[in-house]
Amino acid sequence: MPVEIKKDVYYAGSAHWDRKLFDELIPLPDGTSYNAYIIKGSEKTALIDAVDPVKEDELIENLKKAGVKKIDYIVSQHAEQDHSGGIPRVLKEYPEAKVATNEKCRNMLKDLLMIPDEKFITVADREKITLGNRTLEFILTPWVHWPETMSTYLAEDKVLFSCDFFGSHFATSDILNDEGVYEKAKRYYAEIMSPFRSNVRANIEKIKGLKIEMIAPSHGIIYKNPEKILGLYHEWSSENVKNEVILAYVSMHDSVKKMAAYLKDALIERGINVAFYNLTAADIGQLAMKLVDAASLVLGAPTVLAGIHPAAAYTAYLVNALRPKTKFISLVSSYGWGERASEAVKGMLTNFKGEMLAPVISKGHPKENEFRELDRLADDIAKKHREIGVLK
Ligand code: FEO
Repeated sequence: MPVEIKKDVYYAGSAHWDRKLFDELIPLPDGTSYNAYIIKGSEKTALIDAVDPVKEDELIENLKKAGVKKIDYIVSQHAEQDHSGGIPRVLKEYPEAKVATNEKCRNMLKDLLMIPDEKFITVADREKITLGNRTLEFILTPWVHWPETMSTYLAEDKVLFSCDFFGSHFATSDILNDEGVYEKAKRYYAEIMSPFRSNVRANIEKIKGLKIEMIAPSHGIIYKNPEKILGLYHEWSSENVKNEVILAYVSMHDSVKKMAAYLKDALIERGINVAFYNLTAADIGQLAMKLVDAASLVLGAPTVLAGIHPAAAYTAYLVNALRPKTKFISLVSSYGWGERASEAVKGMLTNFKGEMLAPVISKGHPKENEFRELDRLADDIAKKHREIGVLK
């Protein structure tokens, strides 16, 4: 159903309640939505983004229900198909429409969707187009998470259409209600945007001068009071960390499990918060959220075939890909006949710029010496947290 969010400005998107995975990779515990918007000016009408192709029928229905007879501009803010995939269908229904986008996005849309060149109008950073009584200003906000992404500012209504920026995977019928959204927004930021936090900071700086009364992203809810989400993005994208250790382990014969449990208690005794995960059952999105601001990570993994257990290897891969601001990383491991885990972990964390703390490795079952070593690791982490000022 279309929802009027400002006079003559409509949400025309679609909630995808039962989608469970994004990009066949990211779990979606709350589904997602593809938020398209219609802006009816006194002379022209613009559609901001389309929807995922699986929901294009719903988009067309919403456009009809909102009384859209003609579309002059389809503003494509991001070439990824969850927003652009429905554009060819919209062009079919509204053949007079032109796709207004920046040059990078235009080239990507030509490759991804084979939209013919003559269908485009190319816009530049800060360029404006008029709809009569309303103006759209395009602001390039790249790398949130693709290089071509832009936002659109509707000056007269002070609405920023921000595409993935500030989005959340959240299927809801109450699109103007921010209750419960901030954790979902953090999860979204963690999974999609955290590797690009310096770009996120630059984009926040870029939109700072705009008077924004409403942020309308392309996923999740619309923010009627944008201060809170702006403040959270400021914090998440900063280099600040918290007095917390992510302790994520997998154990085959209980050695690593015992060591991880011992270390957890030792850290808590020293005044450090612990986010404790058994990787066989962990929600990887939760772990990604913790990586947004935890100061340290300890991976617990037994040695398997001269490397680390695949569940821990996947986590190490994720950590390397997300490039978190984590300052300290260590390893708790066990082996039967050959210790290669610490080497394997180091080899996987090629993007890590912080400090590797000496691991604790047990031959077989942990014994007195390994428990003393775990105390040593807890002391090392506490010392480091004090040095960076997160532990008093
Ligand atoms: Fe929601 Fe990057 O697409």
